[in-house]
Amino acid sequence: MDPPEINVSISVPSARTRPPLPLLSVPEHSLLPAPPVLTVVKVASVVGARPQFIKAAPVSREIRKHNHEVLIHTGQHYDEGMSDVFFRVLDIPAPDYNLEVGSAGHGRQTGEMLIKLEDVLLKETPDAVLVYGDTNSTLAGALAAAKLHIPVGHVEAGLRSFNRAMPEELNRVTTDHLSAILFCPTETAVDNLKREGIEKGVHLVGDVMYDVALASAQEAMKRGVVRRLGLEPKGYVLATVHRPGNVDEREPLASILKAFAECGETVVFPVHPRTRKMITKFGLEAHLPVTVRLVDPVDYLDFLGLLIEAKKVATDSGGVQKEAYFFGVPCVTLRDETEWIETVEDGWNAVVGTDTEDVVHAIRNFNPQGTKAKSFGDGHAAERIAKLLGGLA
Ligand code: UD1
Ligand code: UDP
Repeated sequence: MDPPEINVSISVPSARTRPPLPLLSVPEHSLLPAPPVLTVVKVASVVGARPQFIKAAPVSREIRKHNHEVLIHTGQHYDEGMSDVFFRVLDIPAPDYNLEVGSAGHGRQTGEMLIKLEDVLLKETPDAVLVYGDTNSTLAGALAAAKLHIPVGHVEAGLRSFNRAMPEELNRVTTDHLSAILFCPTETAVDNLKREGIEKGVHLVGDVMYDVALASAQEAMKRGVVRRLGLEPKGYVLATVHRPGNVDEREPLASILKAFAECGETVVFPVHPRTRKMITKFGLEAHLPVTVRLVDPVDYLDFLGLLIEAKKVATDSGGVQKEAYFFGVPCVTLRDETEWIETVEDGWNAVVGTDTEDVVHAIRNFNPQGTKAKSFGDGHAAERIAKLLGGLA
């Protein structure tokens, strides 16, 4: 089904008409009528961390149908299981550039990205730079482009946790205020921007994570990951934990792991490398019973397969809260607030923090029923984004 008609008139600075593609050029003496001048928009997409590869997959595919994309990987995530595997399972083209920035403190990591991105953008002179979500790669992409007067498009604009202690909140707010085109996943996001005085260039397009989840669910189920890991459908809790506030200090991380140990369920926990490092540092693995299964991060299809068949999800991830909602899996959120407020308002997400007793209670007793009424779009957000970017020609 075609997505509803959308308004493609965007007014942004520096939009340029590109010359016709060489392939379509006609020899001077040709008797054929000259082809129409084809204007192709050149979009530089900046990705760098796991959730950004997933979000970029459907958008990149749509952009490349009619326009030109230069894909820039900052190198923020670099382990095979945190990076390359997503390009493979989601069929994302290999990046044109890998800046290999790697891990570092916020200033050094973002600063190095900025330096290297500026060089690439000066060389490529794209018509627009597209950034995703709220990581340091997002902020660096937006800032490098805005300083060069290249219009910035922000996918997942307008999200707010209203907790400035989260690095992501600073990245989101700054990126939104640097952006010319703001692609919002939800009405809440549009309202958040309005409250900050951002109304121009705002488009409610739906959630690209919904696009990719819908498109991947069947293939994910065919993988048989649940059986492969010796689990029973609806016989385990799927957990992910990686927020600095939850893992960088011993107390909250120990409290969460204690809850997993005491909840009375098998807990399958693909461990983010940040968290793995801290579990080792604090010596917490030795205390875990066999019911808590720490595994390496899994690829997107296996993760979706595990999520769809899970009894419940316990997470501090932004993306995973939404995926649980998409597939009707009750979510216990190990934070004090969430930017995905729709999932809470609809009764499918219990935001409980990290206290052992509260987490155990929620894993045992949180059993939402009923329909899911909130909208994350119709699975065609990426098409709308590509069409809007195409309108820059
Ligand atoms: C980053 C994002 C966060 C996002 C998360 C997705 C920022 C500020 N944070 O957090 O918003 O939710 O990605 O997963 O941008 N490491 C490895 N191998 C890797 C990547 C990381 O070992 O491939 C380890 C390193 O020790 C590194 C640590 O993980 O220091 C943290 O990585 P980093 O990218 O700085 O932040 P994340 O916690 O991954
Ligand atoms: N994910 C994955 N493998 C894992 C854990 C998560 O593929 O082992 C996917 C998950 O499906 C979701 C995304 O990673 O789409 C969420 O990324 P993450 O939790 O790292 O970041 P956040 O969403 O919190 O920014």
